[in-house]
Amino acid sequence: MFQGIDHIEFYVGNALATAYFYTNALGFRPLAESGLETGARDRQSFVVTQGEIRLVFTNALDPQSPIADSVRLHGDAIHDIAIQVDDVDRAFQHCLEQGARAIAGPATSEDADGVVRRATIATFGDTVHSLVQRNEYRGPFLPGYRPRSGRAGAPIEERGHLCAVDHIACCVDRGTLTDWVGFYQRVFGFSEVHHEDVVTERSAMNSRVVGSANGRIKVPLMEPAPARGRSQIEEFLDYHHGGGAQHLAFLSEDIRAAVRALQAGGLEFLETPATYYDTLAARVGTIDESFADLAALNILADRDRWGYLLQVFTRPVTGRPTAFLEVVQRHGARGFGGGNVRALFEAVERAQAARGNL
Ligand code: FE2
Repeated sequence: MFQGIDHIEFYVGNALATAYFYTNALGFRPLAESGLETGARDRQSFVVTQGEIRLVFTNALDPQSPIADSVRLHGDAIHDIAIQVDDVDRAFQHCLEQGARAIAGPATSEDADGVVRRATIATFGDTVHSLVQRNEYRGPFLPGYRPRSGRAGAPIEERGHLCAVDHIACCVDRGTLTDWVGFYQRVFGFSEVHHEDVVTERSAMNSRVVGSANGRIKVPLMEPAPARGRSQIEEFLDYHHGGGAQHLAFLSEDIRAAVRALQAGGLEFLETPATYYDTLAARVGTIDESFADLAALNILADRDRWGYLLQVFTRPVTGRPTAFLEVVQRHGARGFGGGNVRALFEAVERAQAARGNL
């Protein structure tokens, strides 16, 4: 019933500028736009794509708009993790029967390219899941959007080396993690694929990962756990003002090329302590890539019983210490870099300490 991620929509202060960031720094390609010229009166949106990934950036045209309210409260943030469904009426009904709160019931929109049916339910914080049925639609994105073509000099989709959304990691309020795991199990039929609690010297978090049976949707959920200091989860909750999507992980088939390309575009990654690489070979064994390359590019590695993965994290990209991006390459591994969670946690905490928020 729930087939995969259709698109991810951010509410932002300036959609065009954010779209430029994703096209110029991350190698996304302009796909579509909507606004006053296409009949939208209260918002403008720009859609970018790379591989199977579709991101939508939307800003308000009116200070009274709920989009403006969202940006004032949360800053630039992921608003909608839209899920593709084969039958929106059945999917929406199922969600409500399992206790989801309706935001908008199924509605049809259409243009010369066909018909889309869509409904929306609420999840943690002010985040929503749209349910999108697009099997009778051939247009660039959705009805109401017009195509927006690439810029000059544009084989840029090859620059980013990003092919799909691997996972969307989300922070929820303290004490609600079990409830939200149950929500995704009941409402979307996801199963729990991973469980990890992390404790560092100063802070702690609990993490459980829910995912769809077809493996196309993976949602790590995290809550702060009691500790001496303030965890990165609490910092997110404080600056985002409630639960929300903390990081978006893009899958790459060549993370070294991806990192080089994204760095050339100006994207800034978290630095990994040099001592991390002293013990890496002992921890992950033989891998295809050279450890010197990984160290030069701040790429982390981890192994589980299925294989290994490589991953790297950016600085926050939203103007607040809230959401950031990850690039991950999987060599069989099905985990999320559990062995690196502590390393990431400590890397993020160093940045957090530098901001005076630890
Ligand atoms: Fe991640």
